[in-house]
Amino acid sequence: MHDGVSPMKIWLDGKVLEAGAAKLPVTDHGLLYGDGVFEGIRVFSGNVFRLDDHLARLAAGAKALDLELPGGLSRIREIVLETVRAHGEPEAYVRLVVTRGEGALGVDPTTCHDPKLFCIASDVHIYPDEKLAEGIALVTASVRRPPPDVLDPRVKSLNYLNNVLAKGEARRQGADEALLLNLSGHVAEAAVANLFAVLRGELVTPPVSDGALEGITRRTLLELAGSLGIPAAERSLTRFDLFAADEVFLSGSGAGVVPVRSLDGREIGSGRPGEVWSKLRRAYLDAAPALGVPAFEL
Ligand SMILES: Cc1ncc(COP(=O)(O)O)c(C=O)c1O
Repeated sequence: MHDGVSPMKIWLDGKVLEAGAAKLPVTDHGLLYGDGVFEGIRVFSGNVFRLDDHLARLAAGAKALDLELPGGLSRIREIVLETVRAHGEPEAYVRLVVTRGEGALGVDPTTCHDPKLFCIASDVHIYPDEKLAEGIALVTASVRRPPPDVLDPRVKSLNYLNNVLAKGEARRQGADEALLLNLSGHVAEAAVANLFAVLRGELVTPPVSDGALEGITRRTLLELAGSLGIPAAERSLTRFDLFAADEVFLSGSGAGVVPVRSLDGREIGSGRPGEVWSKLRRAYLDAAPALGVPAFEL
């Protein structure tokens, strides 16, 4: 990276702009009501990680909200690649956002006729190496993950207040991340990452129906576990299972693959990052560039 910091680049209205120059009207329903969808995507060695999977998730979420994707998916694909190229860094983080657009001062989405798309390419801000070496601390949030008939957690919508409140609780208690349970007390995921536990040698992650986002890093780790011969299952988990686990770790585009050292002040396993985490993280980092769509040659 140049001097450790490269400026953000933002695609908006057909142009790639610097951060300060990209502006949206205050009557956009994305801002007024959290009405919209987004993706967070990693770029590894100039390759946009599983871009088509991210676009498919964006399209499914937009359909669930009856939100039109401006320009269509193949144009959006080009926009992501163009923004990453303009940013020029082989390691980057992309935030792709579609909002309902400008409308009347009322929640009615039918007053909005022009959905807005923007795409940000920025530096990566994952957990530092010290955190990976010692593991992060989780606390259970008092807020629960809403069930699908309230707000479907599979839609990666701009309405992240549930996640914001959970993360805020964790930070105020001096922890790094929050654990979210669903209304039945089963583990859903962390505030902005999926969760895995290792129980008697088996890798277990909660099913999406327990309130998790269908994470693209999660899917990749399940595939890699298969090829490494690590038994893996999607099964409901409780806090008890996490206290009894040999390892717990989180996965996400923004977070990476991060070991958990404690939950609610109790040590997980040996209290140190585990072997399954280490193998899977290595396999993920090794596989990532080839699983991406090239934005530019290095
Ligand atoms: C709520 C939530 N869960 C899980 C994830 C992980 O999903 P992915 O691996 O697709 O980034 C994210 C995004 O980072 C998220 O916001």
